[in-house]
Amino acid sequence: MSNFEEFISVNRTAFESGLFEVLRIPSVSADESHLSDMTICAQWFVDGFRRLGLESDLIKTRRHPIVYAETPAVAGKPIVLIYGHYDVQPPEPLDLWLSPPFEPTIRNGNVYARGATDDKGQFLTHFLALESILKTTDSLPYQVKFVVEGEEEVGSEGLDEFLHSDAGKRKLACDCILVSDTGMFAAGQPTITYGLRGIVAFELFLTGPNRDLHSGTFGGSVSNPAIILSKILGKMIDENGRIQIPHFYDDVLTLTENERNQFASLPFDEAGFFSAIGLRNGFGEVGFSTNERRWVRPTFDINGITAGYQGEGSKTIIPSKSSAKFTFRLVPAQNPESIVSNVREFIGSVMPEGITWELVVQHGAAGMRLDLENSRFVLPMSNALEKTFNRKPVFIREGGSIPIVANFNSVLGADVLLVGWGQDDDALHSPNEKFSLTSFHAGILASARFLNELGK
Ligand code: BES
Ligand code: ZN
Repeated sequence: MSNFEEFISVNRTAFESGLFEVLRIPSVSADESHLSDMTICAQWFVDGFRRLGLESDLIKTRRHPIVYAETPAVAGKPIVLIYGHYDVQPPEPLDLWLSPPFEPTIRNGNVYARGATDDKGQFLTHFLALESILKTTDSLPYQVKFVVEGEEEVGSEGLDEFLHSDAGKRKLACDCILVSDTGMFAAGQPTITYGLRGIVAFELFLTGPNRDLHSGTFGGSVSNPAIILSKILGKMIDENGRIQIPHFYDDVLTLTENERNQFASLPFDEAGFFSAIGLRNGFGEVGFSTNERRWVRPTFDINGITAGYQGEGSKTIIPSKSSAKFTFRLVPAQNPESIVSNVREFIGSVMPEGITWELVVQHGAAGMRLDLENSRFVLPMSNALEKTFNRKPVFIREGGSIPIVANFNSVLGADVLLVGWGQDDDALHSPNEKFSLTSFHAGILASARFLNELGK
């Protein structure tokens, strides 16, 4: 066993207590009442990097600070940038948690807490991997940089702005970007994710009459904003799962036979995938398999609808207002800006008179796809994964979005290597989010082996 491997095997408890410490900070980026927790969490990382001897600082944005850290530059050697996010999704609904979201609790070899897998636990594997290498060698033969943002779950605007600035381009310049914010195809199955979907998120507000009206006095004589909203949302997608907005599919690339076959050959437990979420079967675009539907086809989803009376019992009104939050997941060649204008035009074309409306774009990001054949970092990562998990990695695409990665790729000209330690049942964004401690420790070891390999 080499020195860093030994270090990793004897420090399991210390690594876990570090993880629990950061999981206790309720860094919810969407919720203004957690503003100071965001800075506390960012500072926790800065302190950690500094203790390791890295140069580290907070970079201010209009919302939540970015944490940046680096080891000394080594001329002529590759630079690896490791990205993660310290912000988490809101933990609500709280009553569904078996243990409080910000009190990390171990059950069955998993740690339960908001952010356990998404993304504090996953990111920390790389920090701890570097610690294990730095504490067992004299110096690192190449440079490692870290960027940990606090706005991933709300669209990454601050980091995007920094990335496009001169200072940002200089600081973030690198040859490879390593990210663990995705999943493993199955427990214990190492996985390299070579594509992610993009996203555009909207909120649509409708106003009809200037106050809620008696539905007896006025019903039948004015249009009802709740009905109009449901009709418009209903027109966005048909029974075959096809989005009905003109030009929506214009830039969608057809799936190659090769990729279709490769997806079909993965050992996918489809029945188990659905039964774990209480369903007997799925639904999606006709003509595509479940994995094609969730990885490489664009989609429309309503995330929340509000209109009229929500209290107990009935109330006979025509609501004055209605609103909905909805998202489109995009595939790599689709342009978020064109989608925004197509959606706006479509809504205008189906909106009846007498309703005023406002469409707010919450955030948008393009999808990404790594050119596997031409990336020189895939092989050392595959070797590190195989050695750690005793299995060759599988190559998949996934349906979630990490807004900054497409721009990392285009602005920095570096390959984005997505290697996740999460599992489908980790309940990210849901109550009782968890992270397997086996995955946590395996992730640290695999990351350290990868970093060690690069130094050779
Ligand atoms: N870790 C996820 C991204 C992810 C999820 C990748 C599942 C692969 C599979 C990330 O933290 C996330 O949730 N992103 C948001 C981004 C959005 C709010 C802009 C998402 O995908 O909804
Ligand atoms: Zn997330």
